[in-house]
Order: sequence, then C-alpha cells, then structure tokens
Amino acid sequence: MQQTSPKSAEAQAGDHVTLIDHATGRQFDLPVLEGTDGPKVIDIRRLYRDTGYFTYDPGFTSTASCDSRLTFIDGEVGILRHHGYSIEDLAANARFVEVCYLLLHGELPNKKELDEFDHHITYHTMLHEQLNYFYRGFRRDAHPMAIMVAVVGALSAFYHDSTDITDPYQRMVATHRLIAKMPTIAAMAYKYSVGQPFVYPRNDLDYAENFLRMTFAVPCEEYVVKPAVARAMNRILVLHADHEQNASTATVRIAGSSAANPFACVAAGIASLWGPAHGGANEAVLNMLMQIGSKDRISEFIKRAKDKNDPFRLMGFGHRVYKNYDPRAAVLRESCHEVLNDLGVADEPLLDLAMELERIAREDEYFVERKLFPNVDFYSGITLKAMGFPTSMFTVLFALARSVGWVAQWKEMIEDPDQRIGRPRQLYLGETARTYVPLSERG
Ligand code: SDX
Repeated sequence: MQQTSPKSAEAQAGDHVTLIDHATGRQFDLPVLEGTDGPKVIDIRRLYRDTGYFTYDPGFTSTASCDSRLTFIDGEVGILRHHGYSIEDLAANARFVEVCYLLLHGELPNKKELDEFDHHITYHTMLHEQLNYFYRGFRRDAHPMAIMVAVVGALSAFYHDSTDITDPYQRMVATHRLIAKMPTIAAMAYKYSVGQPFVYPRNDLDYAENFLRMTFAVPCEEYVVKPAVARAMNRILVLHADHEQNASTATVRIAGSSAANPFACVAAGIASLWGPAHGGANEAVLNMLMQIGSKDRISEFIKRAKDKNDPFRLMGFGHRVYKNYDPRAAVLRESCHEVLNDLGVADEPLLDLAMELERIAREDEYFVERKLFPNVDFYSGITLKAMGFPTSMFTVLFALARSVGWVAQWKEMIEDPDQRIGRPRQLYLGETARTYVPLSERG
C-alpha cells in the first residue's frame, strides 16, 4: 500500500487545530497530519516563524521527532509491530537475520534475498586484526559496555571505505558491517574480561550460534551449540531489535543528523543505552533481585520503590510508552520458563522471586494507578544468566540486538529527502544581559 508521506500530505481542509493567543487575540491554524496508525500529530514546523513561540516538552512525552515506517507501538494496548508484523509473530517464527532484512528493506525476504543477505552478513563478521590490540589497552575488569562504546566508535578508524554517508553503496556496506561485527566485538569483550583467547567467527554457523560459540568456546575442546540456547538467543535478539524513537535510537538519529559516520552514531547509541533507566536496566534487574534475595524482603523493596525520598526504583518496571504489559516482557517470561526447563534449572530461585515481585507489584495501588508493568528488561536477565552470561554482559546483548534498529533508523533518516540537522531550542531561565565586573571589583 503506497503510504503518503506527511511531508507531501498537505493537511486537508478541516484537518487542523486553531491556536488562540489570548495575550494578543491572534489565531493560528496548525495543520494536523495523520499516519497509517497511532495518534495524529500537530505539525508545528512553522510555529516559531508564525507565532514567535517555541513548544516545551523536555522528555518528549508528546513530541514526534520524525516520521518512520519501521516500528509501531501502541502503549495503551501493548502492541509492537515491525513493518506491520507483530513482535509475537516474529519472535516465534523469524530468524534474527530475517528481522534485520525486514527492518532495513520493509519486507520479509524471500529465500534468494535471505541467502544473499545472510552471505553479506556472514562474510563481514571478522574484525580487522589490529583491533585485537585495541582491547589490550583496557583493564581486564573494564565494564564490557565501556569496551563496546570504544571499539564500535573505533571502527570508523578502520573502515574508511564505508563512512561516506552520501554514497548509498557505502551506507549499505556500513550497515552490513555493523550488524555483522557487533557479535564479534561483544564476544571479544567477554573473552577479554575472563582472560580467555578470542574466538574467530565461523561461516558455517548462523548469527545466534556464531555469537554463542565466539562467547563460550575455548580452544581446548569443540563447542557444540545447544539448540535450546540458540533458539533462546535468537528470540532475545529479535525481541530487542528495534523500538521506535527510544532514547538510544533518538541519540543515533540526532548524531547522524550532523552527517557523522554510522560507526560514531552507533557508538553514541551504545553510550545512551548503557544507562540503568534504559538498556542498563536488564543488568540492574538481576542486581536488584539478588539484593532482595528472598520473598520475605519483597515488601521492603516495594515500599522503597514508592518512597519519593528513596532513589530506588523497581528496575524492569514502568515504561514511557507502555501503559500496559510490554509484549516483549510477556514473550520473555514464557521463554524464561522454557529455557530454564531445557537447561535443567527449572527451579531457578530468581525466577520464582521475580514472578512473586511482579504479582505483588501488580496488585499494589501505586503501580496500578501509574500503569507500571514489567518491561522488556524484567525477565531477560534471568534467561541470560541461565544461558551462562554474567550480568555485566546483559546490556551488551541488548546493544548487539539493537544495533540493527539503530542502523535501520539511521538509514531511514539519511535517506529522508527532508532530513535536517536536529537542533532543539530551550526555555531560557538564566541571567539576562549584564556587564563584566573586573576581578578587583568583585566581592
Ligand atoms: C527500556 O523507550 C523505550 O522504548 C525503551 C526500551 C527500548 O526497547 O528501547 O523499551 C528499553 O529502556 C525499558 C525501560 C527500562 N528501565 C527500567 O526498567 C528502569 C525503571 N523504570 C523507570 O526508571 C521508568 O519507568 C522509565 C525510565 C522506564 C520511564 O520513565 P518515565 O516515562 O519518565 O516515567 P516517570 O519517571 O515519569 O514515572 C511516572 C511515575 C512517577 O511517579 P509520580 O511522580 O507520578 O508519583 O511512575 C513512577 C515515577 O516515580 N515510576 C516508578 C517506576 N517507574 C516509574 N516508581 C517505581 N519504580 C519504577 N520502576
């Protein structure tokens, strides 16, 4: 279905709102634009020029920063779709590379397209050998997210032939390189932290299997990927691939709007994702569950989460957009049971504790009133721990999966003919004009 871009869709007569400035009595008609789904938007692109007013929305709670076709979220109902396909459908049926192709091209690939795309990704998984020495500059106990930010940013020092963002071919190569090399970089960050040798990618393994082998294989014996673990890894990658204009994606878009190279933009996205309010929450959830320790201490932490004077938040709970159950959390909760059973650790106490914590929180008026539900980070860590990942690697895995969302959103922005540098304004609250006072005259 040919979708009319808001840019070309002049608002139809009547599709507008009228702003009345009661200070002057002036009235302004602002166009209303309608997408294919979700809320309509008031087009304020001419507001400052026509009225002299800015809008004010510090957390962007009511602001659409762009138009996009990649991902649709309905937070009230708990819907997440990528180019129309539900996350539940994709998590149950798609390989991660299929979702990568879908996000980049807008359609699920046929066999020929998938084989070709798979080949491109597979043959870009190796890193320039010189980058091995880059890792050696870090202490062994460096947080792997610090390594990810640095190494991904450093890719622009090695792959100059795919940094000209005006060249569609170079943009495509950079996209393939980022998707392909993130598992290698992530696995190397883990190997470095545990003092084991780096493991090279294998071209006969699929994306998830290759990553698991690079992470957990040792030279002394053959590593056999457990199918249950590979399935869980693939599902986790699919669930984290893209999520509309979240903080790290917005970071990548605004970094890319200055025409910075894609490696530097994704490094900025990794930095933003690291925060515990965002992708760092999966690591924070596991640490929180271990801090709570037992069911009889849950009420103590629920009380703390509700106390405005206590900075403690229930990690893995709440979301800017979802005011219903995060559909990814529902899939991850089911998947967690399946993986723990497959791995013979069905009685993992942390899962039991998490489910009791969810039950109590969801019956508590504070959480019900504020529509705080478990989000994608609440159950993911328990699965990742069972798969053998240390908590310090949880956000790295989130960054690994989200890299395709970042590059797909970056590509969409760069290919937008109306694309301009992102440059928000402000409500100024500082000092008005005053004259310099010489040091000798200052009190
Ligand atoms: C991700 O945006 C995305 O799409 C992100 C993400 C993605 O895929 O990219 O989905 C991934 O980042 C998921 C979120 C992971 N973060 C956490 O789990 C950290 C804990 N959650 C909170 O920090 C918080 O819920 C946020 C940051 C997720 C959302 O913050 P908002 O939208 O700014 O909401 P808010 O802070 O204004 O909260 C509204 C109210 C407040 O109380 P009142 O001032 O109204 O009395 O709810 C309270 C908050 O204090 N609240 C919480 C809470 N989350 C919100 N209280 C206790 N525990 C919490 N977790």
